[in-house]
This record gives sequence, structure tokens and C-alpha cells, in this order.
Amino acid sequence: MLLSLRARLLLWLLLPLALFVFVTDYMSYVAACQTADLLQDAALLSSARTIIEDVDWENGALTANIPPAALEIFESPYQDHVFYKVVAGHDRLLGGSPDLTLPAGSTRYPVFYNTRLGELPIRAVAYERQLYDSGKAEQVTVIVGKTQASRQAMLKDLWRPQLIRQWLMLALVVVLVPFGLTMELRPLMKLKNDVADREPMELEPIRVHHLPSELRPIVDAINQCIARLKLHTTTQRQFIADAAHQLRTPLTLLNTQVQCATQYDPSDPALTEALTGIRRTSQKMADMTSQLLLLAQAESVSLPRVQARVDLAAVVSSVLEELVVAAQRRQIDLGAELAEGTYVAGSESLLAALVSNLADNAIRYTHEGGSVTVLCRREGSHVLLQVVDNGPGIPAEARAHVFERFYRVASDVEGSGLGLAIVHQIALSHGGTVTMAPGAGRVGLVITVRLPAWRNEERE
Ligand SMILES: Nc1ncnc2c1ncn2[C@@H]1O[C@H](COP(=O)(O)OP(=O)(O)OP(=O)(O)O)[C@@H](O)[C@H]1O
Ligand SMILES: [Mg+2]
Repeated sequence: MLLSLRARLLLWLLLPLALFVFVTDYMSYVAACQTADLLQDAALLSSARTIIEDVDWENGALTANIPPAALEIFESPYQDHVFYKVVAGHDRLLGGSPDLTLPAGSTRYPVFYNTRLGELPIRAVAYERQLYDSGKAEQVTVIVGKTQASRQAMLKDLWRPQLIRQWLMLALVVVLVPFGLTMELRPLMKLKNDVADREPMELEPIRVHHLPSELRPIVDAINQCIARLKLHTTTQRQFIADAAHQLRTPLTLLNTQVQCATQYDPSDPALTEALTGIRRTSQKMADMTSQLLLLAQAESVSLPRVQARVDLAAVVSSVLEELVVAAQRRQIDLGAELAEGTYVAGSESLLAALVSNLADNAIRYTHEGGSVTVLCRREGSHVLLQVVDNGPGIPAEARAHVFERFYRVASDVEGSGLGLAIVHQIALSHGGTVTMAPGAGRVGLVITVRLPAWRNEERE
């Protein structure tokens, strides 16, 4: 069952408090019983002593004249019944109630005990003394007992005020704590309203004043999330603006080319040339559009959503098969060194786009007759992909920028400047890295992609 925070906090407070109240109430009950017994026993003993004082020898025999003062001590509004019994020797009754029973053991010292007289429960004391008279000695035992009404009343007087105080405190907690919690949770409610009432594109940080210190980290985390969202939105807007700008140039060119073409006579060879130009421009636009789509796809994907097992070496060999014709056209020696067990977690189509962009660059930018090799092997907990060529390489000052969108190093080869940005984004979304360095003897280029290897515990 899901309880509200307020109910949970109240429960955490009430349970130990109720336990504490029960334990202390029990302890104070025991203490009140002890006090009431002590007072009652002291009165019983005092009465027994007064009675025994008045047992005396008369004409050689013991007689008991019970003074009223001996029993007045018990007078109370609770109308307890008081009983006594005076016994000489073992069983010679000198006065009082004959049914009052003696305790089991010796009564040389006062013995307090609970007994019954008929139906009445009784607290009693038995007390004995030796009485002497001209060489004679006789044992006299006095028993004084009383019913429990005044003792119970005293117990109530001693215990009840404490009990009432404790339960009042508990009731006060039940009333005040929810009230206090409601007051204290107000900033949280305000925070909730602030977040809920936001416009979809309102990406300003949340500002809640007088926030309790426990809520600050939550607001900070929400603000960090908003800041990331804002950065992402700005990047997306920039991307759309850049893409529109990049597409406008070939579109304008296409427009001009179509306009020129319409002016040529159908038999004019210049028309064929113009149509070839149109085809080239529209091909360029199609390439750029698919690169843009790929980049948008790579940016929107995140690693936890692309958790299929992919054999990178297999991806490399199928991509290279598609590029063989392009490599042959430029007499490029396209080779591969592929090891086994090169499994990574990711999206097969995106990884194919990564390999394809790198191999395509190497084939296109390397001079005719050059060589391009793609290597794929496992290295520790990573899978390594390397594309090595012996082409012109990338100047050191341009290397920091080639992963930016639309950045191109001046060359005769046409391109949209998106390939390496796509590679970088795909590597990032697969938890990997991309680095580049000049080849052996500072000839050509080596681009290295390092991706986390597929772990056995990851499920397909
Ligand atoms: N293997 C390479 N050898 C030399 N220069 C390279 C190589 N790979 C990339 N470059 C340079 O880096 C720049 C950026 O490459 P990127 O792949 O991002 O864009 P592109 O090839 O121009 O366009 P796209 O790949 O989108 O068609 C290119 O303009 C090119 O000059
Ligand atoms: Mg490229």
C-alpha cells in the first residue's frame, strides 16, 4: 500500500512514541502499586501494633481490649471492611473474626499476605509477640486485614494523572504533526506547481525561495536537466538552421541549371551537359539529405536503447563489399584484417554507417593507386576498428575541427562535411571514442574507433 509522505512520517513518529507511552505507563502503574501497598501495609502494621499493646494479663489470663483508635486508622470514604483476630498460643481466640486465616510460615516478624474472607479479597498482616507475667510467658498473634477499596482508589489517584498526561501528549502529536507537515511541505507543493505549470518550451531554471536544504539537491538536479535540455534544443535548432543553409546552395544552383537548360534547343549538345550538371547537383542534394538524416538518427539514439549484439568484423566485411567497385574505379588496394570475437552492443545499421563513412573517406581522399586497410580486433574490454590509408592525411590544425558538422578541408572531392560528425556521434552513442593520427612515417591517416566489447552478462 502506498501511503503519503505525511502518513509515513506520522507513522514513524507515532509508533515509537506509542511504544514509549505504553512502557512508561506500565512502569508507573507498577510504581503506583508499590507505593499504595507500602502505605497500606504500614497502616496495617501500625494497627496490629496498637492492638497488641492492649492485650494484657488479667487475673493470670490474657485478655484483649481492642481500642477504637486501633481501627480508626483505616477510616476512609471508601468504606473498607476491617477485620482483626487476636490469638493466644496456637489457637485460643481472644477476640475478632475467627475465620481470618493465619499465614503459612512463622510470624515472628510481621508477615504481609493476601487472603480471602468469604468472598472478600483481603490484604492482611500477622504479627506475634511474647507476653510475660510473673514467670509465665505466652505467645500472642494479631492479624489485621482489610478490603482493597481504598488501596484501589489510591492507586487510581497515583497513576491516572500520569496516564492522562501521556495520552494527551500522544493526541497532541497526532493533531500537530500533520499540521506541521502540511506547512513544511508547502515549498514542495510550490515546486510541483512550478514544474507542472511550465510552458513546453520554457527552459529557464526553477527558482523557489526559502527552500528546505533537503529539497535543494532536487531543484539543482531538475535545473541541471533543464540546462541539458536547453543545450540540446539549441543544438537542434542550430542543426536545422545549418541544414537549411547547406541545402539552399545546391537548390539555388539546381534552379539556375534548370532555367539554363530550358533555354537550350533539344538538339544542342550543351543541353546534355546541363542535364548532367542537374543530375550531379541533385545527387549531391540526395547524398547530403541522407547524411543529414543519418546524423539526426545518430543524435537521437542513446545506448540503452540499442542493445543488440553486433559482430563489428562482419559489419566491416559487408560494408567493404559494397565499396569494392568504388575502390576499383580509383585503383585503390582495399584490404581488411578482421579478427574473431569482435562483438559490441549497439545498432547494426548505425555501426555500418560508421564503418561506411570512414572507409568512404579513405577511398575518396586517397590518391589513385593508393591503399586502404580496415582492421578490426578485440583489445581487452574493447573492440578496435582502424581505417588506415596512405593518402594526404589531415593537417594537424584541421584535425580538431573535422568532427564538427559541415567542416571540410579544402579539396577537389565533393562532400557535405557531415561524415566524420556522424562517425563521432555514433561512436559516442555506443559509449566509444574516435581518435585520429598520421600513419606510419607521417604518411596517410589512421582513424581509430574504440567501442566497449559485448559482455557475456548483457542479453541479446
Ligand atoms: N581519410 C582521409 N584522408 C584525408 N582527408 C580526409 C580523410 N577523411 C576525411 N578527410 C577530410 O575531412 C573532411 C571531413 O570529412 P567528412 O567525412 O566529415 O566530410 P565529407 O567527406 O566532406 O562529406 P560526407 O562524408 O558527408 O560526404 C573532408 O573534407 C576531408 O577533407
Ligand atoms: Mg566523408
